[in-house]
Amino acid sequence: MIRLEGVHKYYGNLHVLKGIDLTVASGEKLVIIGPSGSGKSTLIRSMNLLERPSEGKIIVDGIDITAPKAPITNVRQSVAMVFQQFNLYPHKTVLENVTLAPILVKKVPRKEAEESGMAFLERVGLKDKAFAYPSQLSGGQQQRVAIARALNMRPKIILFDEPTSALDPEMIQEVLDVMVSLANEGITMVVVTHEMGFARKVADRVIFVDGGEIIEEGPPEHFFKNPNHERTKMFLSRIMH
Ligand SMILES: Nc1ncnc2c1ncn2[C@@H]1O[C@H](COP(=O)(O)OP(=O)(O)O)[C@@H](O)[C@H]1O
Ligand SMILES: [Mg+2]
Repeated sequence: MIRLEGVHKYYGNLHVLKGIDLTVASGEKLVIIGPSGSGKSTLIRSMNLLERPSEGKIIVDGIDITAPKAPITNVRQSVAMVFQQFNLYPHKTVLENVTLAPILVKKVPRKEAEESGMAFLERVGLKDKAFAYPSQLSGGQQQRVAIARALNMRPKIILFDEPTSALDPEMIQEVLDVMVSLANEGITMVVVTHEMGFARKVADRVIFVDGGEIIEEGPPEHFFKNPNHERTKMFLSRIMH
């Protein structure tokens, strides 16, 4: 579903991604872990061209999205993203947030977008908040709206960049529960997270990124039982408690 070949990213002189080769299979759940500043966001954001690689190729569902004339709008439709900071439109209702992109970008008729939008809001447990504004919701509820918004684009892939890092501890589980239920439905998911319980439960594979490189990868059990690299061990010992 996704293939990165020799991906490098520079911000000026800063070499942030240093030759990433990575394949994500259709339906796979990939978890990315690594210290702050290691390039995780840059890596995941490059998968829908929110960041453009300086070098290398990214193929999504058979399309080279890094090609000069790649259909970026189509790519953004099939690869949805959920951010740490929710990024909802504050002056639009929950339902408007969930239907805006399908109506504007995908040209879905309003009625249809609203019907599916309500169904996805119900899935994330927020049907009764459809006409509320984001500021009237808790962080956990806002993040669940953001997930419903992503789903209403009917994406092939959903990218999550630390979706629970901005949440109060008591709200983390409600968002993880929604993510677990999505994972069970077969959508391709790439998730940057330090929630190791989530990784253990749903990840097919975990990659550890440090200094812009993939240091180690394997199934979650590998990471928890016997990581190979000293850097991985140190990182895990810091985040597990
Ligand atoms: N737009 C940008 N301009 C300049 N430097 C950036 C930009 N985005 C990220 N960086 C730098 O790139 C490095 C990797 O950042 P990031 O991908 O956000 O790491 P992570 O998500 O693992 O914390 C950091 O040193 C960060 O400061
Ligand atoms: Mg980040």
